[in-house]
Amino acid sequence: MAESHVFQAKALERAISAIVAAGGSEPREAQLVSSNLLMANLSGHDSHGVGMIPRYIESLKEGGLQPNRHPQVKFDGGALLALDGQAGYGQVIGLEATDMAIARAKQHGVCVMALANAHHLCRIGQWAEQAVAQGLVSISFVNVISRPIVAPFGGSDARFGTNPCTIGIPLPGQPPMILDMATSAVAQGKIRVAYNKGEKVAPGLLIDDKGNPTVEPRYGVIEPFGALTTMGLHKGYGLAVACELLGGALSGGGTQHTGERSKKRVLNGMLSILIDPARLGTAEFFGREAGLFIDWLKQSPPAPGFDRVRIAGDPERETRVERGREGIAVDATTWRDILAAGEKVGLAAEQTERAARG
Ligand SMILES: NC(=O)c1ccc[n+]([C@@H]2O[C@H](COP(=O)([O-])OP(=O)(O)OC[C@H]3O[C@@H](n4cnc5c(N)ncnc54)[C@H](O)[C@@H]3O)[C@@H](O)[C@H]2O)c1
Repeated sequence: MAESHVFQAKALERAISAIVAAGGSEPREAQLVSSNLLMANLSGHDSHGVGMIPRYIESLKEGGLQPNRHPQVKFDGGALLALDGQAGYGQVIGLEATDMAIARAKQHGVCVMALANAHHLCRIGQWAEQAVAQGLVSISFVNVISRPIVAPFGGSDARFGTNPCTIGIPLPGQPPMILDMATSAVAQGKIRVAYNKGEKVAPGLLIDDKGNPTVEPRYGVIEPFGALTTMGLHKGYGLAVACELLGGALSGGGTQHTGERSKKRVLNGMLSILIDPARLGTAEFFGREAGLFIDWLKQSPPAPGFDRVRIAGDPERETRVERGREGIAVDATTWRDILAAGEKVGLAAEQTERAARG
């Protein structure tokens, strides 16, 4: 495996914030972008962590990512809200759009929020966590406008993105369930991480440029491109199509249908449904039944190779504790790309290196 650099989260966050600020973002935006990326690393999702910065800077340079933007209201129907993210940093657009949807769900008991044209919303679980922290259920369908990288079930080339689907459920008296998943067999960034580390990927995740199964991550990263498969065969494929139709078409953002490959920007469309369980008349029952069910699940004796049964959200919470203590490892290729991204916006590599070392 290739060499890695280990950083303490706070120092790395400051170094990343300086790069974003040098790209033209106001201090609040730079801080929101860097803390969101660091949280992805801390949660164990390096694919959505600081390694995104080189892509963001490329996107900024080509004009596909617009700094200092806020969601624009396109339609306001009370519990129905349609917003446009104006290609702004997803870390700001996602936060502010979710805040608006939370206020509506508190007021009306439910909010359907359609968000078009946000630049990369990164870890969608972050927006579910934001709503769940306010006691709300959050269900999101997201599409990705970027180079198509996932093949349809039964197809042999890439036609859409990794279209994440996320469900957050607050659980009275215990940590919430945060199911946050790409509908591809694996998130694309995890293929990039494997490629940068010089590792193979597990069988079943990728096909090559001829449609044959492969374990070589290069087919997800460099030409000639292959494609990722969908999770759960035809079932995950169905969910991915629903994400495209709801997150891309119903949101007002746009779907994949041209195969455009040259642009660096990553746009997300997101349809989110927020429900206030306290307003549905079932709150007391929900609290009791949810607790009973989760306890019941967790009493299942661990299968060989497992230490215990977890619910979605548990692995990220555990990794946050571990990485908060031990630091964040960034592989040498990714770190070199981050330093180069800093140089593109006028920060000398030594300056970024010094900031990241605290
Ligand atoms: N913005 C975008 O365009 C975009 C696109 C795709 C993915 N993403 C993000 O990528 C991230 C990674 O996605 P992924 O599909 O690789 O995630 P993953 O496969 O690592 O995890 C998926 C879900 O499974 C749960 N899980 C994992 N192990 C478990 C266990 N042992 N028991 C119970 N639950 C378990 C996790 O808590 C998580 O909710 C997500 O945050 C997603 O939002 C973003």
